[in-house]
Amino acid sequence: MSYIKKTGWLVLGLIGYFTAFSQTKPIYQDATKPVEERIGDALSRMTLEEKVRLLHANGGYRSWGVPRLGIPENNPTDGPTGMRPEFRWESWSDAKANNDYCTAFPSLISLAATWNPDMGILYGKSYSEEALYRNKNIILGPGVNICRTPLNGRSFEYMGEDPYLASQIAVSYIQGVQSNHVAACVKHFATNNQETGRMYINSLVDERTLHEIYFPAFKAAVQQGHVWTVMGAYNQLNGQHCCHNDYLLNDILKKEWGFDGVLLSDFGGTHNTQEAIDNGLDLEYGTALGSEEAFENYYLGNAYLQLLKSGKADEKVLDEKVRRVLRMMYRTNMSADRPWGVMNTREHTDAARRIAEEGIVLLKNEASILPLSLSGLKKIVVVGENAIRTVANGGGSSEVKALYEVTPLEGIKNMVGDKIEVVYQPGYSSGLKGTSAADSLKREALKAVVGADVVVYVGGLNKEPNQDSEGSDRLSYNLPYGQDELIAELSKANPHLVAVMISGNAYAMPWLKQVPGILQAWYGGTESGNAIASVLFGKANPSGKLPVTFPVRLDDVAAHALGAYPGDGKTVEYKEGIFVGYRWVEKEKIKPNYAFGHGLSYTTFKYGNVTVDRKVVDATGRLTVTVPVTNTGSREGSEVVQLYVSDLKSSLPRPVKELKGFRKVKLAPGETANVSFTIDKEALSFYDPAQHGWVVEPGKFQVLVGSASDDVRAKAMFELQ
Ligand code: BGC
Repeated sequence: MSYIKKTGWLVLGLIGYFTAFSQTKPIYQDATKPVEERIGDALSRMTLEEKVRLLHANGGYRSWGVPRLGIPENNPTDGPTGMRPEFRWESWSDAKANNDYCTAFPSLISLAATWNPDMGILYGKSYSEEALYRNKNIILGPGVNICRTPLNGRSFEYMGEDPYLASQIAVSYIQGVQSNHVAACVKHFATNNQETGRMYINSLVDERTLHEIYFPAFKAAVQQGHVWTVMGAYNQLNGQHCCHNDYLLNDILKKEWGFDGVLLSDFGGTHNTQEAIDNGLDLEYGTALGSEEAFENYYLGNAYLQLLKSGKADEKVLDEKVRRVLRMMYRTNMSADRPWGVMNTREHTDAARRIAEEGIVLLKNEASILPLSLSGLKKIVVVGENAIRTVANGGGSSEVKALYEVTPLEGIKNMVGDKIEVVYQPGYSSGLKGTSAADSLKREALKAVVGADVVVYVGGLNKEPNQDSEGSDRLSYNLPYGQDELIAELSKANPHLVAVMISGNAYAMPWLKQVPGILQAWYGGTESGNAIASVLFGKANPSGKLPVTFPVRLDDVAAHALGAYPGDGKTVEYKEGIFVGYRWVEKEKIKPNYAFGHGLSYTTFKYGNVTVDRKVVDATGRLTVTVPVTNTGSREGSEVVQLYVSDLKSSLPRPVKELKGFRKVKLAPGETANVSFTIDKEALSFYDPAQHGWVVEPGKFQVLVGSASDDVRAKAMFELQ
C-alpha cells in the first residue's frame, strides 16, 4: 500500500473514532462510567411516578421498568431448582407456553447432601444459563430456612438443619448464579420454618437463636456470596411481618450486614404501606393480580405515590429504594457483561445428574447388599409408586417444567438393558391416575417379589399437599399410603431388599432393621432415575451425607418434645432456642436412626491422628487442624471430612459440638490425603444477648474430626488465651 493510501486510512480511522466518542451517551447508559454515577443520573431523569413504578409488580412475575428511558422490566423466575412454567401476566394460571421446558436440577436438600461447594457453583452456573435464555434476571432461590421440624412441607427446598453447611452451600450456589449476571434471591428472611399458618404466624425467637441458627446462612449469602436480592418471609418475627420488619431489614440486613441489594417481598407478603416504606421493603410482588388497576393498588403503588405527593413521605427514602433496584439491574439485565444463555444442553443435564448422584446418601449397607451386580442378577422386582412417578413438576412454587425426567424405573431399565429381567409392581397407591386399590396392589407386589434376586423398593414421599409441598406441612412422620406395613411385609417375602427413598426430609423407619440396604435419594431432577441407577449398580460410589438428622420419632425433635410446633394458630415460640437438629439430640443423648452428617460409601476410609499447629491460640483464634484420611477399600471414593468444635466451658450453655468445617476429598484405593482446615475466632464464638454481639471466651476447646456427627474419628485439644 502506498504512503498516501495509508495516510488516508489513518485519517478516516481517526475521524470515525472521534465521531463515535463525540456522540456521547447519557451517563446512565454509558458502561464506562461507575455504576453509582449511572444510578444517580438515571434517578435524576425519572419522575416521581416512574420511581414508584419501579418498586412494584406489573404482572405475576415481572415488575415495571422505565419505558421512556429504555430501562427494562425485571423478570424473576421461581424457583430454586429450575424454571417454573410461564404464567399469564394477570393470574397464577399456566400460560401453556411451548417454549419453557427446561432442565430440572435436584432439590436443594439434595445439593446440600453433596456437601460439595463445587456442586453448588456448577448448579448455580447451569441454572442461570437457562434463566438467561428465558430472559429472567432474578432466580428466586436459594432457600435456606433451617429445618426445625421434619414436618415442614418445604424442607426439600432448603439446605438442612445446620447453619454452617447451609451457609457454605448457599454461597456457592449464589456465586454460580451471579457469575452469569443473574441475581440470586436468598429466601425466606427469616424464620419461615413451617408452612402451617405461614402467612400470619408470629415466630417468637430470641436474639441469640436468631444469630446462631436462623441468620447465619442469610448473613453468609450477603457477606460472602454478595447476593443481589433477598426475599422477606411471609410470617411475622417477634410481632412484625418479615417483609417490613424494622429489626430484620433495617437493623440487621441493611445496617449490620451492609446489604446493598434489593429486599423483595414474598408474593403477597406485604401488608402495610407505611411499614413497607419505613422498614426496608424495596420491591413488592404478588400482592394482587387481575387487572392493571390491581397492580397500581399495591402497598408501594398509588398509596405510596399519594404520600409522596402530599409531602407525607420523604423522597430520599424513595430514592434509596430506587437506587437499590437500579443497582441490581446494572448487575443483571442492564449489565454490558451479561452473557448469552442456553437451555437444555447436554452440559446442563450432565450437571443435574452429577449433583443428583453426589447427593444420594447410602444410609445402610448390611452384608454389602449394594452395589448390585450387573452380571450376577437374573431378576429384579421393583416395587413402589415413586419408581414411576415424576416429581419435578410439583411441590408449589418450586415446580419445574422439565423437558424430561427419568423415573427410577426407567433409570434401572436404562442401566440393565436386556441383561436382567425387571418386573414392576406399584405396591401402594397415592391415588395417582391409573392405579388400583391398595390391598390388591400390596397382594400382587408380595406375590411378585418371591424368588427375585433382589427387590428394589422405591417409595417415600411425593410433592402432593401435606407431603413435600409448599403451603402445608406433613401430617405425620410416618410414610403415607401404608408404606410402613408394605415394606415390613416385603422384607419377609424377600429379605434381599433395597429401599430407595425419595423425600425431602426424614421419616419414621419402623422397618429399619428388616431392610439391609437403604439409599436416600431426595428429589433428583431431570436425571433422577439415571443417578439412582448408577449408585445402585455402583457406577457411581455414593458420597452424600445427611444435611438433617433422621430421628426415630417426632418426640426426638426439640420443637415437638417441647410442644413448640406448630404453635397456637397465632404464635409459635421457638422454645428449644439454639438446640435444633443434632444440637438437640446430642444435648439430650438421644440416638437417632441416622445422625446429621451420616453417609456410607462402597469403599472405606481410615482417619489418622489430628494435629493442630499450636496448642495455645491467641485472640485471633487462628488454628490449623490437619488429619490424614486414607481410602482403605478397593475402589475410588469420596469422603466428606467433617470438623466440629466443642467449647469445653462457657458462661452460656453451648451445643456439645458444632460443625465449623468440611471438605470432600476424592481418593483412589490406598491413597492418603492430608486434609487441613483453618479456623478462626468466628468458629469458636457464640452470640451473647447481654452484649448484643459475638463473644469468644478464653479456655479449653476441642476439635473433633470425623465421618459424621456421631462418628468422630479423632480429636485434639487446644487452649484459647
Ligand atoms: C413462595 C416463594 C416464591 C413465590 C413466588 C411464594 O408463595 O413462598 O418462595 O418464590 O411464591 O412464586
